[in-house]
Amino acid sequence: MGSPQREILCKVLVVGDLGVGKTSIIQRYVHNVFSQCYRATIGVDFALKIVNWDLDTVVRLQLWDIAGQERFGHMTRLYYREAVGAVVVCDLGRVATVESVSRWKEDLDSKVCLQNGNPIPVILLGNKCDQVPLGTSVSNLEQLGQELGFSYSHVTSAKENVNIDMAISSLIKEIIAND
Ligand code: GTP
Ligand code: MG
Repeated sequence: MGSPQREILCKVLVVGDLGVGKTSIIQRYVHNVFSQCYRATIGVDFALKIVNWDLDTVVRLQLWDIAGQERFGHMTRLYYREAVGAVVVCDLGRVATVESVSRWKEDLDSKVCLQNGNPIPVILLGNKCDQVPLGTSVSNLEQLGQELGFSYSHVTSAKENVNIDMAISSLIKEIIAND
């Protein structure tokens, strides 16, 4: 009695330029902590979160925290294998990281797809919203996300815990819809 009927294992990639806050977003989401100090991820890190999605569904979310510097390496094809969703992160305060979003999306679309051949759902996060005046950044990010074929775009702050849960939930919803 009471045991969940289905357990979904999800491999989700988190990518984006150096220092945009990928590790911080994952730490906030999984452990509800934040650190100011920056230690660049080397290669790839992993985190697991078990999400009691609803009465019938448990999601085992495996987050692959891929170092920003990997975009210039040759490992991403290997890391991306069998992922069912992805998060592209940029830093709203650094234009170059926003401009890189299209390259990360292309990298994902060219190297990974679902078993049925469809592209994996990808969400766009404009992080560090605590550091920029809001308003313009929200609509610009949404427009960029739509143009590039993201499932959703969210303005986030790992530091102040803004929209982190909501953003990841929007991705899980898409993944479950594909399951
Ligand atoms: P790489 O591992 O090098 O690819 O970087 P990353 O994307 O994992 O960035 P990381 O999470 O390490 O964060 C980089 C720096 O930005 C750290 O000093 C964090 O404390 C800071 N940071 C991350 N998220 C936020 C945020 O939402 N607001 C502010 N103000 N700072 C943030
Ligand atoms: Mg990192």
